[in-house]
Amino acid sequence: MALTEEFETNGNTILNRINELANLSEQPGMLIRTYGSEAFREAALQLAAWMKAAGLDTFTDNIGNVRGRLYSDNPDAKTFVIASHFDTVVNAGKFDGPLGVLLGIELAAHFAKGKNRLPFNLEVIAFADEEGVRFHSTYLGSKVVAGTFEEELLQRKDADGLSLEQHILKSGGQPRLIKEDRIPADSWMGYYEVHIEQGPVLYEKKIPVALVTGIAGQQRAVLVFTGEGGHAGTVPMNMRADALCAAAEFVLATERHAQSCDDNLVATVGKLDLEHPASNVIPGKVSCTLDVRCGDAHRLTAAIEHIRQISSEICSRRNVNVQWELVQYTTPVTCDDELGRHLAEAITRSGYEIVKLSSGAGHDAVAIAAVAPVSMLFVRCFRGISHHPMEQVAVEDIVAAFKTSVTFISLLSKTYGV
Ligand code: HGY
Ligand code: MN
Ligand code: MN
Repeated sequence: MALTEEFETNGNTILNRINELANLSEQPGMLIRTYGSEAFREAALQLAAWMKAAGLDTFTDNIGNVRGRLYSDNPDAKTFVIASHFDTVVNAGKFDGPLGVLLGIELAAHFAKGKNRLPFNLEVIAFADEEGVRFHSTYLGSKVVAGTFEEELLQRKDADGLSLEQHILKSGGQPRLIKEDRIPADSWMGYYEVHIEQGPVLYEKKIPVALVTGIAGQQRAVLVFTGEGGHAGTVPMNMRADALCAAAEFVLATERHAQSCDDNLVATVGKLDLEHPASNVIPGKVSCTLDVRCGDAHRLTAAIEHIRQISSEICSRRNVNVQWELVQYTTPVTCDDELGRHLAEAITRSGYEIVKLSSGAGHDAVAIAAVAPVSMLFVRCFRGISHHPMEQVAVEDIVAAFKTSVTFISLLSKTYGV
């Protein structure tokens, strides 16, 4: 079978499985598969079955990552991880995460069939919680594998008041054994993640894949605005401490500040909740999320400080109190030069033009970068749409990513340990 035909078969297998996995959702009519849900558990079983069928030594770790290993014959070999996540946002697209997981399984199956074993262990991982929808803290799964999981995260509670620890126990995991699920720092060879670009550059350039140079730093916070609730009909306008108006002014002032910076800095309020909302009640307590990102750590810190001052100025003028809770902070990540050179070579040898992009979106590679050199390949997606049901990747681009990845792993196997 001609090389490309074979890769077309792999591409179709990956796409068919992405479509199959997309049926495992918490709600009919939309894709939502958050950490610890029934749909999440069904997806984990399906991924484990595909990993086993690929010939991988498969297990699910205590936080719920699904992991498959292709061992080298060399007992002292280091481990190269190919991974992404299988949890989703709400009303998600079906490629964000699963593309990288299912391409990884297909890639490992390709090398498992090879005449010679790779000189390094290949581990494919489906990370359990990258989006952080349930506990509003991201990279829970990849932090466990990196060995950077903070114990206090176990007490994080979801909207139903259930803690992460309770979710783990409910799913059959042992929270106290989480530490044992890491890949020891000296066992890592490197990390590779294939992910949709989630932006329009490749779509505009009509190019299937791109080399990722780095990932923006990110801060997530929750702000609680506390004013004074009251009767909508009787409290004069000049005597109000309306928490929603303070929050609304904050949202627009934050947008204005981010717009005044260059487009390397973005700020988003994605959730806004009123306590005891009613049309005839002045909102007394309002909370909102804040997500700020920038490729430069100093500018990210400065922007957060400025936005914090904005919130204080608005609230003191409106006689409203504001509390900030920092939920997550990750500094910008630079992808590894040496892996990047091999990946660039693989892109060229596969017949594609080299495009280098930095990522505004966060990825599990951020967590792994704490312990290992990381590399990422972006894949073109329709008009750059993501975190939306219109997210779409053409099978030809999946084939392009697969072909590039096979070449990349083959190049690494020739240089490993040299
Ligand atoms: O938020 C992000 O950047 C990623 O989708 N978790
Ligand atoms: Mn993702
Ligand atoms: Mn995402």
